Amino acid sequence: MGANVALGIDIGGSGIKGAPVDLRTGKMTGERLRIETPARSTPKAVAKVVRQIARNFADELPPDSPIGVTIPTVVQHGVVKTAANIDDEWIDAPGQQIIAEAVGRPISLVNDADAAGLAEVRYGAAKGRDGLILVVTLGTGVGVAIVHDGVLIPNAELGHIELDGVDAETRVSAAAREREGLSYPQWAARLQRYFSQVEFLLWPDLFIVGGGVSRKADRFLPLLKLRTPIVPAELRNGAGIAGAALFAAAERNR
Ligand code: BGC
Repeated sequence: MGANVALGIDIGGSGIKGAPVDLRTGKMTGERLRIETPARSTPKAVAKVVRQIARNFADELPPDSPIGVTIPTVVQHGVVKTAANIDDEWIDAPGQQIIAEAVGRPISLVNDADAAGLAEVRYGAAKGRDGLILVVTLGTGVGVAIVHDGVLIPNAELGHIELDGVDAETRVSAAAREREGLSYPQWAARLQRYFSQVEFLLWPDLFIVGGGVSRKADRFLPLLKLRTPIVPAELRNGAGIAGAALFAAAERNR
């Protein structure tokens, strides 16, 4: 029998957040704990914070509950392969093992956008929908999850496609909008180019836009003209935590 609750931990550029998640609803069962990401976000420093969060919830969870952890990098079979917005020491580090050793329990490590994608398809904007769903998170970086008929195709990294001769993420992330002081219409013009290119390549049935800025979706999504329906994420900042928990529970049941 599968677990009903799992711990989800979301490693982000500025904060590391965790909470127990009810796997039937995707909702957190208690208060979320957030700790600042260490200034040098090395594997050792980050693993220490993850341990602190896991310990904090130890009493609230059955002792063998799954623990899922997201990270903003490619994760291939537990090994971190990239480091766009985190310390370079992560590259080729056995991240899953490092964190498991710090926590003292097995954990499942998953790309942050992939976790958000799984959560939106199970609990959020694409709940119960089949077909090809692309979840695009616009934050410090741009993450993309590809989910087909509920099955995740991991590590898509489509935030880094080349657009106008540069890495798209440097022009279309929420961080780029803030850095350059773009108005929503100016930013939407860039998003238009980005989403058009992605739909040209992949022909999804639905785009879901996540990241903190999805709260302001009414300022930019209506400006986009795409053949694919595009909607804001429903779980917002909870998507990483819920997706991490869901991923860990699914790995356990494999
Ligand atoms: C990384 C992805 C990540 C995304 C969102 C990108 O820079 O390459 O792995 O999912 O940022 O954090």
